Amino acid sequence: MTATSSLVRLSGVAKAYGATRALDGVSFDIAEGEIHGLLGENGAGKTTLMNVMYGLVSPDSGTIEVSGRAAAFRAPYDAIRAGIGMVHQHFMLVPTMTVAENVLLGLRENPFWRRRDRAQGRVRDLAREFGIDVDVTRRVDTLPVGVQQRVEVLKCLARRATVLVLDEPTAVLTPQEADELATVLRGLRDAGRSVVFISHKLGEALDVCDRITVIRRGRNVSTVAAADADEATITAMMVGEGVAAVAPHRVNADGHPRALTVEDLHVADARGIPAVRGLSLTVRAGEIVGVAGVDGNGQAELMDALAGVRMPAAGAVWVDGKDLTRASPRERADAGMAIITDDRRLKGLAPGLSVAENLVSKRFRREPASRRGWLKPRAIAAAAQADRDEYDIRTADVAMPVSELSGGNQQKVVIARELSHARSLLVAMNPTRGLDVAAAAYVHQALVRARDKGRGVLLISTELDEAIKMSDRIGVMRDGFFREAPPGMRIREGLGRLMLGGRSTP
Ligand SMILES: Nc1ncnc2c1ncn2[C@@H]1O[C@H](COP(=O)(O)OP(=O)(O)O)[C@@H](O)[C@H]1O
Ligand SMILES: [Mg+2]
Repeated sequence: MTATSSLVRLSGVAKAYGATRALDGVSFDIAEGEIHGLLGENGAGKTTLMNVMYGLVSPDSGTIEVSGRAAAFRAPYDAIRAGIGMVHQHFMLVPTMTVAENVLLGLRENPFWRRRDRAQGRVRDLAREFGIDVDVTRRVDTLPVGVQQRVEVLKCLARRATVLVLDEPTAVLTPQEADELATVLRGLRDAGRSVVFISHKLGEALDVCDRITVIRRGRNVSTVAAADADEATITAMMVGEGVAAVAPHRVNADGHPRALTVEDLHVADARGIPAVRGLSLTVRAGEIVGVAGVDGNGQAELMDALAGVRMPAAGAVWVDGKDLTRASPRERADAGMAIITDDRRLKGLAPGLSVAENLVSKRFRREPASRRGWLKPRAIAAAAQADRDEYDIRTADVAMPVSELSGGNQQKVVIARELSHARSLLVAMNPTRGLDVAAAAYVHQALVRARDKGRGVLLISTELDEAIKMSDRIGVMRDGFFREAPPGMRIREGLGRLMLGGRSTP
């Protein structure tokens, strides 16, 4: 897909908030029928730029052109009239109304408003026209997040948007829902609409976008065709070559005891094919070691072997000086090893049990929760209340069934449960996948807190920016091996090369 004519063009946009130059002369142009990725680290200015384009923020300077003509947006209403639609990260839907009612709500030219069947038919036609799969008769609050997002897209389309802006739409989605969204966006593009796709996940942006614009600290870095870019080049653009481009080495744990030692580990995948092929690494107490890398390079099998649900073919795993290579998950927990993954079900919150019971479920067999095999309910309640306060779990009563908590708070229960018995080692794999930004920040804080309490933390993450941001030492998993980046190495050349280089071309 090549950019033909420019539909919307922002030129030299600047916006300062006090001393913060959120935007410092950014230019951005959206062609007809393209998915244009807007990438940059947190705080780069992506949202501010889009808010300018949507009339929510008035720029200090700069111009907006729509189809070659100067435009001035004083409010979103002006932008909507110019064909710009925005899907906000926090949806603006009325939960108790149906899909059709939400889509048509507030539309001025809505002759069918009181005729339910015709209104539904109109929205159904619209959805069909753009290949969007949604039952228009359903109440919005009965729909999963991914479907609600499609309703927001439909709302834009009903307002005749030619440009749709989605600000980090996949932050709230599961990987499966993110794939479905990609299909919807491609459908919009093929129907001649333009999409601005904001993300800080490189893989999905490269996958779904035609062109990608990277901004850094309020300035343009570059606009490239996605086909000409890869994760390494985009990372280099996002991170730049400043201080941040050096492999992090915030905590030096060189002399600390080893929380985890993995020695020449070999693990086969479900089909019996070697997936981890001689992997060695060390995590010392009081440091976060990051394992970056593209999905499918043995990370899942490494995780399974560390969790004790898949026996390695060879090699050894030592935790806090104990050989746990063949230990059961329970023995690992008893040894003070904790695990957080992206799959909440895998970690098994027991929905029928109370918040308190879930919180202490891995400590039942130890004092003070039990003594000589007898459970001590008051001690359990006290421990649970302490966890609730420490981990900010929003529930008035820890005796409440855990199933009644919100998703974010259930995640906190898992984290609290795991961290409370992480006396030596915490292993986290994609711990923020599918979480919203606030919950993800919470998880990141929890990892740092575990590190600062002297635990060893192994963070396996397929999100490069997460691995870079969080790790004291970092390396890449590829083809079943782990290669550590030397401290001070430039991420730009080094990590990219480790991740992608050397792979034989198909
Ligand atoms: N309303 C505001 N008041 C003060 N500072 C703001 C405001 N909005 C954004 N900023 C600042 O502007 C910069 C860019 O923010 P933002 O556009 O949200 O970045 P991004 O979306 O790329 O993460 C950040 O430093 C942010 O703190
Ligand atoms: Mg933003």
